[in-house]
Formats: sequence, C-alpha cells, structure tokens
Amino acid sequence: MKVTISVIKADIGSLAGHHVTHPDTMAVASKVLSQAKKDGIIGDFYITNVGDDMELIMTHTRGVYDSKVHEVAWNAFKEATKVAQELGLYAAGQDLLSDSFSGNIRGMGPGVAEMEFEERKSEPIAIFMADKTEPGAFNLPVYKMFADPFNTAGLVIDPLMHVGFNFEILDVYEGESVTLSSPEELYDILALIGTPSRYIVRKVFRRGDDEQATVVTVDRLNLIAGKYVGKDDPVLIVRLQHGFPALGEALEAFSFPHLVAGWMRGSHYGPLMPVSQRDARATRFDGPPRLIGLGFNIKDGKLVGPSDLFDDPAFDETRRTANIVTEYMRRHGPFMPHRLEPSEMEYTTLPKIMERLKGRFKKAEDVKGGKESKHVNETSSD
Ligand code: 13P
Ligand code: 13P
Ligand code: MG
Ligand code: MG
Repeated sequence: MKVTISVIKADIGSLAGHHVTHPDTMAVASKVLSQAKKDGIIGDFYITNVGDDMELIMTHTRGVYDSKVHEVAWNAFKEATKVAQELGLYAAGQDLLSDSFSGNIRGMGPGVAEMEFEERKSEPIAIFMADKTEPGAFNLPVYKMFADPFNTAGLVIDPLMHVGFNFEILDVYEGESVTLSSPEELYDILALIGTPSRYIVRKVFRRGDDEQATVVTVDRLNLIAGKYVGKDDPVLIVRLQHGFPALGEALEAFSFPHLVAGWMRGSHYGPLMPVSQRDARATRFDGPPRLIGLGFNIKDGKLVGPSDLFDDPAFDETRRTANIVTEYMRRHGPFMPHRLEPSEMEYTTLPKIMERLKGRFKKAEDVKGGKESKHVNETSSD
C-alpha cells in the first residue's frame, strides 16, 4: 500500500520564554488529531516537541499536499494557540501567520515535511527535529548519510546503495531547485550545500529506482510573500535500511556537533547537540541548538514506536564536545563569527542602528577608499 508520512510543526507558544512547549497545548493538539483519526482522515499520529516547537507526526493514505490533512494540523495548532493564550505562554501563536485556513498549510507559517511511498514489508524511519536552527543545518548530516562512505558503509557494501543518490537542492533566494548526482557531482553538491543559509538539500532519491529517501521542511522559506524569513526550526525524515542508510548510519551523521545558525534571537552560530526527548529544552543562551531523533516502523499505515534515538551514552562524547564548543563560542559575545553576519540575522536591528548613526559618520580624510572603492561595508548586503 501507498502510505504518506506528514510531519507538520509549529511554535505556537512556550513556557518561560522560547524554552519548551506546555503539556496542555500538546494535550489539546492531541485531541484534535485523535478526532481526525476517528474520522478516518489520518491513520495514526504521534505528537512530540523539541524545545518550543510542537511536531505533529501523522500517517495517512491521502498523499502529500492534502488539504484535509493540512486542515487537521492547522486546527490542532489553532486550538493549541488558544490554550497558549489562556496560559499566557510566551509568543503564543508565533508561527501562525494567518487567521484562516485556505486549503494548504504551506506558506501559512508551520513547517511541512511529507513523503509518499509504497510501504515495504518492514518500513523503518527516523525523524530528526531541531530547535534554534534552520533547515540548512541538515545539509552536512544528510551529505554524510548519502554521500560519505566514511559515515555510511552501505555506500560501498550494499548493491542497492552503491549506485548513489540524487540530491534535490533548493536555492531559497531564487526559489529554484537543481538535482545533482552523487558520486559523480560530489564537488558541485558540496560547492552549493556548504552555504546552508541559501542552498538546502530538500530531498534525496536513490538512483536506479528513484525511491525517495528523505525530505526536509523548507516550506516556510519558500515563502511567504516572496520574502526570505530565515531561521525556521527544521524537521528531517529519513527512510532506513535495505537500500537506504542503516539506522546507525543515519545516527552516525550526527556524532559530530557541527556549527549551525539560529541560536539566541535567531542570530548566532552554535553546535547542534543531539539530546534525548527529556533534554529537548532550550536553556543556555536559549540553546545550544538541540536535536532529537525518534525511530519508528510504519506498518499498514500505522506508527510503531518510537524509540528515543539519542537517549544513549553513545552520544555522551558528542554532547561533551558540544558543551566545550558552546563555551568557546559564547566567549565571543556579540562578535562574529559567533553572531551571524547582519544579512543573516533573524531579528535584525543593526541596519536601524546604522540609520541612526548615519549623520555621525565623517569622512576619514587620511584613509583611502570610500564609495568609489571596491570595499563593501558591513550593511551593504541588506
Ligand atoms: P522578545 O524581544 O520578544 O523578548 O524576543 C527576543 C527573543 O527571544 C527573540 O527570539
Ligand atoms: P524560536 O525560533 O525557537 O522561537 O526561538 C527564538 C529565539 O530567537 C530564541 O532565542
Ligand atoms: Mg519560540
Ligand atoms: Mg523553536
């Protein structure tokens, strides 16, 4: 049977700052999804959170972009927002950019990752969810999973994987995507995805049979009135085993806590720290950026599981490294490269400061340069 997995997420308000969702908002969202399951719109669901982001994990047989499924998610977030408002939670309704649903949740604020496929006899998947970062944060681990044999032994050993994978890469500024093949075009892939704020690995397909292996939430970027709205806490779905990465290969890709953008006020780089569900709460400097992973099987369209994938001493050293890097980055305070460059900052106030100081800048007579020179000043990229 063909099954669709839809993970739709939003931050509809959180406890004590941009910290953690409240159980009452999760409970009311759960009620909405329960009803949708009774009504036969969805087959199954699981609700979770990473930090202040609520994730609705749903299975159904209605395909991607289904307006009924999107409406269920929208209603769940709307109801949860009401509770968030009653409780006075912080930034209630933060990610809901519209008052009324108009057939498709894309472009309305929540992030959407959906994939439809023929369910295998055993269909293992992992869902990775992160807070205080952006979809491009998954570029490096997805590259490792699907293109780096030092991470994924299956690329060498498994005949189904040995043919390589196609990477669909989105340019969020131009709203265009390009598909490049690994291994032949590896260097081209890296030339693009090494700029994760602009180029995002949106989907990966297995070559040979074109089976889809991953999908990432990029919809909010895609965008909303043609304007780049930046750092949206992302979700990645990965199909596992038998021609896809083994679970352990997918997890191995997160053993290095690489630097990602989106920490504190959406404006700082920090290490992506994989944690258990229990520790999925943003704390120090509203972070460090957190990642959780849940493992499921899909059977007859139902979710079996989950297993809390990073709730494991095998990731203690990764977390320790992340904490050392946290300390190192924090010592830079407001200086780049801890702070993002002005054009990348989510809550941009620096140009306003430049506006205010405009009249106070005087020509430095003893320095060559100025408008005619090739030098670009810090705010010219805005
Ligand atoms: P406030 O200015 O609403 O406190 O928000 C700051 C912040 O945390 C932005 O992410
Ligand atoms: P969220 O995007 O997770 O709401 O965080 C906002 C922020 O900037 C916290 O510092
Ligand atoms: Mg928030
Ligand atoms: Mg968040």
